[in-house]
Amino acid sequence: MSLFLSIEGGDGAGKSTQAELVMIHLKASGVDALLVHEPGGTDFGEQVRRLVKGDVERCPMSELFLFEAARAQLVQDVIRPALEAGRVVVTDRYADSSLAYQGFGRGLDLTDVHALNHAATGGLMPDATVLLDISPEQALARVDGSDGSEGRTDDPKQVRFEQEPIEFHRRVTEGFRALASAEPERWFVVGASATPDAVAEKVWSIVSNLLVLRGINRNA
Ligand code: TYD
Repeated sequence: MSLFLSIEGGDGAGKSTQAELVMIHLKASGVDALLVHEPGGTDFGEQVRRLVKGDVERCPMSELFLFEAARAQLVQDVIRPALEAGRVVVTDRYADSSLAYQGFGRGLDLTDVHALNHAATGGLMPDATVLLDISPEQALARVDGSDGSEGRTDDPKQVRFEQEPIEFHRRVTEGFRALASAEPERWFVVGASATPDAVAEKVWSIVSNLLVLRGINRNA
């Protein structure tokens, strides 16, 4: 039995760190797991990633199509085969990011975003989604290091979303919260302003419960 888990949240919420920590726990527990991230994870997806994170002008709908194109490739080439082989798949962002960013953030019709998500994924949705919830002010201070942390050292030409105005990030954050409240059986909301280790402990308690519920074998 496989498990498909997505990790969602705004920029600077700590998704990549938490996804890596979950993988360490999964491997230590003897679970065969695969980590992917969106956009990316295939040759095609990595090229789309550079394009969407760059500053080439685009309208919201063409931006949505780019994310969906990368997603379709990733689902077909990587996620579905891994799930069919019985592996646990953890994804750092998935279809809900398009609803939050292109729907709530950019103002595209949510019905359109849902329809394109469905087309790109063939209806494959995660069994569970962890929302790392943090205020955009705090998250963006992490990204630029103004909270005293190291900050990120991203390529300055690849920061399209981080440079959006704070109002955009507020809509994205509220969007994620609305998605989580609309589907509480799938979403697990974790406050992400604590230390990475404290957040990781909460995330692992959620994931380890899911493994038990699905009867996935663990050595530990
Ligand atoms: P990335 O460096 O992966 O950011 P993060 O570490 O915050 O995930 O860049 C991906 C950016 O693309 C991120 O700002 C969110 C955005 N995005 C969308 O707008 N829509 C989507 O469907 C996805 C998957 C990502």
